[in-house]
Amino acid sequence: MDCGALIAGSAVNSIFRCPACNGLYDVIYPWSSLPDGDAPAAASNAPNGTALRYLWQERRASTLAEDQSGVWRFRELLPFIEAPEKVVTLREGNTPLYELPRCAELVGINWLLAKHQGMNPTGSFKDTGMTAALSVAREKGFEWVACASTGNTSAAMAAYAARAGMHSIVLIPEGKIAWGKLSQSMDYGAMTFQLRTDFDGCVRVLTELVTRFPIYLLNSVNPYRLEGQKTPAFELLEQLEWQVPEHIIVPGGNLANGSALAKGLFEMQQLGLIHRLPKISIIQAEGANPLYRSITENGGRELVPVEAHTRATAIRIGNPASWKKALRALNATGGWCEQVSEQEIALAKAEIGAEGIGCEPASAVTLAGLKKLVAQGKVGKEERTVLILTGHTLKDSEYTIQYHRGELFTGAESAQIPASDRERHDALRKPPTVLDADTDVVFRELESRMKLVRPA
Ligand code: F0G
Repeated sequence: MDCGALIAGSAVNSIFRCPACNGLYDVIYPWSSLPDGDAPAAASNAPNGTALRYLWQERRASTLAEDQSGVWRFRELLPFIEAPEKVVTLREGNTPLYELPRCAELVGINWLLAKHQGMNPTGSFKDTGMTAALSVAREKGFEWVACASTGNTSAAMAAYAARAGMHSIVLIPEGKIAWGKLSQSMDYGAMTFQLRTDFDGCVRVLTELVTRFPIYLLNSVNPYRLEGQKTPAFELLEQLEWQVPEHIIVPGGNLANGSALAKGLFEMQQLGLIHRLPKISIIQAEGANPLYRSITENGGRELVPVEAHTRATAIRIGNPASWKKALRALNATGGWCEQVSEQEIALAKAEIGAEGIGCEPASAVTLAGLKKLVAQGKVGKEERTVLILTGHTLKDSEYTIQYHRGELFTGAESAQIPASDRERHDALRKPPTVLDADTDVVFRELESRMKLVRPA
């Protein structure tokens, strides 16, 4: 994507970087072009958008695995696997689109939806990309796959490798990933290494490993991951009956997801399935904000890596690989990059939980970021907005429990919470109460609490 060289898919090297310029690869098809590229010379070889709409819809009634997958159902736009029955699938995708009426009201907009990618088979959005890239790995004859991860990629990779009968190697930062995610990679039989470093250090080690051994790299520098991760955009538009929302808001970590969704939207526009693009905005945690800083400090010309710190461990990334792709997505769609504090993330997570939906901390940055975009006048009251919730609430139950027990923040951090938010926190916190197993005791406790919530 930097020097513009075009190569065949079969010529890609093991680290998925151009030997001439070290840039990342984009997958392009004869009929497609990229947001900053020239329009395709002739769209005559492009699939027929209207016919695809009906075909994709029809497949919903099929019992074939590749049709039941919310990724491979759109396989005309993923034409890199020889035969559909060869894909490795856990019936990923097909995730719900929920209304968030209470969150909409408190943010001050009329129409807010959440596309919950945490409802995928391994509990995160990574499954949509993993089914694509792991299917390529198997087709190429690899026996070993590997990734560096903050936890969700590794959970997804371990599961899909197990389904395919392949071996997987996980590199994760020691002590900085949520238990749910760590347990998944063990449960699915991966070889797990906890390195005494952060995510960026794990990436460094892995990049060297794959040049020494025939291991297929499954980090999001692998462009087939992004091909799978573009499909939730198709699914979302289908769920909205092809009415384009004004805004899509995603969390930003290694910065692949926003760009993958943008690619999906761009392709739909090229095929005439939609006629304008929603604005994609990316939200980072304040302590892991290299893209935000790059944009505010030097207009996105260069990215200076940061040492990342956030309790939203999924996005604890200081040197994101796909920052240029993310920037391209922001520029092509007209969206923004924002940053949010730890306290704002916790509040937003509790608010999404209180809708009966829930998500992991990294996903909650979307709602926290939306509040800022509304306050800045960038998202209007009438504009339809979709949050992409990337991970399931059970991924990081320790965070949730600490929050509700009031143990998440230090005294100094709690003191920084503005008074208006403090009231919200107090209303949302539901710590468990330990009582004797005596009906009278429970009744008295219940009575005193019910008085609190009864209208005066
Ligand atoms: N949300 C969750 C739950 C994640 O796990 C990640 C990334 C992101 C958001 C950010 O997405 O990297 O495409 O910008 N997790 C990776 C992992 C890095 O290893 O699981 P991104």
